[in-house]
Amino acid sequence: MAAILDGKACAAAYKANIAAEVQQILARGGRKPHLAAILVGNNGASETYIASKVKTCGEIGFESTLIRFPESVTEAELLETIQKINKQAEVDGLLVQLPLPAHINEHTVTLAIDPEKDVDGFHPGSLGRMMLGLPGFLPATPKGIMMLLEHYGIKTSGMEAVVIGRSHIVGSPMSVLLSRNTEPGNCTVSLCHSKTRNLEAHTRQADLVVAALGKPEFLKADMVKPGAVVIDVGITKISDTSSPKGYKIVGDVAFEEVAQKASWITPVPGGVGAMTIAALMQNTLEASLRRQGLKQA
Ligand code: GUN
Repeated sequence: MAAILDGKACAAAYKANIAAEVQQILARGGRKPHLAAILVGNNGASETYIASKVKTCGEIGFESTLIRFPESVTEAELLETIQKINKQAEVDGLLVQLPLPAHINEHTVTLAIDPEKDVDGFHPGSLGRMMLGLPGFLPATPKGIMMLLEHYGIKTSGMEAVVIGRSHIVGSPMSVLLSRNTEPGNCTVSLCHSKTRNLEAHTRQADLVVAALGKPEFLKADMVKPGAVVIDVGITKISDTSSPKGYKIVGDVAFEEVAQKASWITPVPGGVGAMTIAALMQNTLEASLRRQGLKQA
């Protein structure tokens, strides 16, 4: 039976450290770190993520500003707001919640964010720095997973790792971070996707699997090597008449059966999701320390 990689507890430990650092900044005459978030439309999942980000800012002593636009906002209006926030000296971090409506170009929007405020790590400059192993903002979900592996002392060096899903937000940067010459890291990585032939042959070889494809309970026990470390990035709401809420949240891993075979596993909820927020807050703290001249870039 696998041990649980408790993202909620690990995130709480990180958040407590960040909150203590905020108090030190204030004691030194600095100001609170400030995160600005832009939300377009009212996609249910995005509403949940943004509410959680804003709430966490309050809990750890950050300032936050949420700017909402209707689905009908034009790309030009959105870009104008980004330019305005880029110039606001008191804002340290800026994120635009994804996905955006089809009439808005995600890449144009991401490029418009000042790289020094790019706490989501989606700007091409941030991604380039990640590829080169230079200091910079790492995308929050892959960074959160690395923080979780480190927190539990999981030594990944030399592991065969399989990442399922090649999104710009999770799978693709995750494959880079796991392959870098760092600890955790130093894995031999396969990045699997919808065109991968015989995916099970890959996952059955893997010492570490990161499932980030967005298909509920996709990874089954017979696809996993005994003793593997299994990280579940999926968050899908499915109807559940036995729950008072009428739904339940499930990951990309068939948790009950895979937990019988794995050595470590993340639960959903309470795994990667909590770590994503902790990583975002860590990025925002770092942006603020740099902007306030309290830490070298
Ligand atoms: N949509 C899903 N995950 C994320 C994330 O980490 N950041 C942003 N901005 N949008 C997302």
